[in-house]
Amino acid sequence: MRRAVYPGSFDPITFGHVDLVRRAAVMFDEVVVAVADNPNKKVLFTHDERRDMAVDALKDIPNSRVIVFRGLLANLVEQEDCCAIIRGMRAVSDFEYEFQMALMNRKLSPKAETVFLVPSLRYVYLSSNTIKEVAKHDGKIDDLVPEIVLKHLKEKFGHK
Ligand code: PNS
Repeated sequence: MRRAVYPGSFDPITFGHVDLVRRAAVMFDEVVVAVADNPNKKVLFTHDERRDMAVDALKDIPNSRVIVFRGLLANLVEQEDCCAIIRGMRAVSDFEYEFQMALMNRKLSPKAETVFLVPSLRYVYLSSNTIKEVAKHDGKIDDLVPEIVLKHLKEKFGHK
C-alpha cells in the first residue's frame, strides 16, 4: 500500500486543496489529509470544524481519509506508514518555506519523500487566508470553496 500524507492547516479547505487531493489520489493508494492542531497558530476554525469541512469536501474521493494531528509531522509519517508528503506549490513565494520544511522532514523521516503538486490554474492564486479575507466582507467565493465551507464562513462572519 503506497500511502501519502497531505498535511496542512486547512483553515478552511478550498477547491485548491481539493484539487491537490484529487491529483494525489491518482498517484497513491491512499491519501491521508492531516489537519494540523497547532495551539500556537491563530486559526479561524477549531480543528473539529476544519476536519468536518474537509471530510464533507472530500467525500467523493474514496481513497482519501481525514485525520487531525498534533506534534511533529515526521511522527505521523511513521505512525501512518507513509512513503510521501504532499504539499502544494503555487508560486515562487511558496518555495523557501516549503524547501526548508521538506529538508527538515527528510532529516526526521528519511523514508518519506516530499512531493510538490501544482493545482489547476483556476485555483493557483487561492489561499485560505485570502478566502477568509473576502468572506469577512461577504465577497463572492462560491466557486472557490465547497458549499459546506461557504456555509461555515457565512456563520462565522454573520452573513446571510
Ligand atoms: O497549511 P500550512 O499552515 O502551511 O501547514 C503547515 C504544516 C501543518 C504542514 C506544518 O506546520 C507542519 O508540518 N506542522 C507540524 C509540526 C512539524 O512537523 N513541524 C516541522 C516541519 S519542518
